[in-house]
Amino acid sequence: MSDDAPSDALVLFGFTGDLANKKIFPALYALAKKGRLPRRVIGVAGRPLDAAAVQQRVRDSLDKEGGVDDAAALDRLLSATSYVNGDYHKPDVFAALKKALGDARRPAHYLAVPPELFETVIRQLGSTGLAKDARLIVEKPFGRDLASAKALDAVARSEFPDKAIFRIDHYLGKEAIMNLLYFRFSNAFLEPLWCRDHVESVQMTLAEDFGIGERGGFYETAGALRDVVENHLFQVLALLAMEPPASCGFADVQSAKAAVFEALRPLAPADLVRGQYAGYRDEKDVAPDSDVETFVALKAFVDTPRWRDVPWFLRAGKKLPQTAVEVQIQFKPASTALFPDSGAAGGRANYLRFRLQPKVSIALAARVKRPGKAFVGDQRELFLCDDLDGEQSAYERLLGDAMAGDGSLFTSARAVEAAWTAVDRVLVDHPRALPYEPGSWGPKEADAMIADRGGWQAPDPDAACA
Ligand code: BG6
Repeated sequence: MSDDAPSDALVLFGFTGDLANKKIFPALYALAKKGRLPRRVIGVAGRPLDAAAVQQRVRDSLDKEGGVDDAAALDRLLSATSYVNGDYHKPDVFAALKKALGDARRPAHYLAVPPELFETVIRQLGSTGLAKDARLIVEKPFGRDLASAKALDAVARSEFPDKAIFRIDHYLGKEAIMNLLYFRFSNAFLEPLWCRDHVESVQMTLAEDFGIGERGGFYETAGALRDVVENHLFQVLALLAMEPPASCGFADVQSAKAAVFEALRPLAPADLVRGQYAGYRDEKDVAPDSDVETFVALKAFVDTPRWRDVPWFLRAGKKLPQTAVEVQIQFKPASTALFPDSGAAGGRANYLRFRLQPKVSIALAARVKRPGKAFVGDQRELFLCDDLDGEQSAYERLLGDAMAGDGSLFTSARAVEAAWTAVDRVLVDHPRALPYEPGSWGPKEADAMIADRGGWQAPDPDAACA
């Protein structure tokens, strides 16, 4: 069978999970609307559900996550969907799955299950012959440190060829993130500025104004560094820091990104501040003495000739003042000191701001003189906006791509391992998590780390991009 033959069935392990409800059913519905749904969607999970309950779950999810505006597409999704239940550790469920797959020859098995089940499911797929000609889509986290990522990779590769393995980082399926790659390498004015000679520092904020909700069990095994920094923010960092890839093809982009992770200076305990919001220990499934961080701020360096000694400040947290993801590239001040409010004389130097969520925009800040006798001015932002009407959700894009055999927006084993290598030490060797008030920007120690670089800039989620 050719490598790019489309998948004719999607097997969704974790059918009753939170991710399925929030993201996967809406993505499948969107694929159904476009006629891109495989013939069969087979849900797998532990609890018994009859056909009506299976359909109800899908309907409820869609009602909650955007509604249904195409009854025929919903019918297509519901009639394609069936369900198998059982214990993943026992072969019966895989025998039932085989039966449900019928004559499907190229299934895509999507592991939207807790990571401790990945190995069990992969091995069962292998031993029951269900890995043959199949694809494997692995939801994050791909490992919880370097050693476990390598072990998981070895298990996955023992049953599936590497090109059939799709490691999801849903940030890569976001339009705003894809735009970073395009923006960087299609604008000639950027390249001369994009280096240590002109960039003073880079800062990224991934802020969420909500807590961990019902995900205490998972979060206790993760923490902010594993949950959103080592993966999502690192992917953004790689797109911004990488050297121009030889082509925009998968292998070249992956290799340019992996080279960034390999050049990341391994983090040491003094490079990060960890925080925990007050009340976290009272959340469901959280240990009363938990030291898991719900906030992390760190300073990283990419040791390449282009970026040597330029600090990359990354922070992420729950229960912060707002929900937004933003990157700011802070340029160095002009070398002249002609005017009292700019350049070497003072004032904030020019910057480039990528707001990735919730609204997407790119703004270039430059100073403009105020009318009047005095040579003083203001920093104004020139907005370059994306019209994201009709944007696909990240999961629609990624599932569609994986089932079509297109790996461009997935991560490679090399990149995954290099990213874990950079954080491996501080996953275990780190300062204690400092308390912070919900609704604040984390512990004040996080401010100290960037004070001499102008401080953190709060994203402005309300700034119109018109
Ligand atoms: C997930 C994390 O990977 O990313 C969540 O597990 C986080 O904790 C989420 O909230 C953020 O993704 P998005 O797309 O909502 O920015």
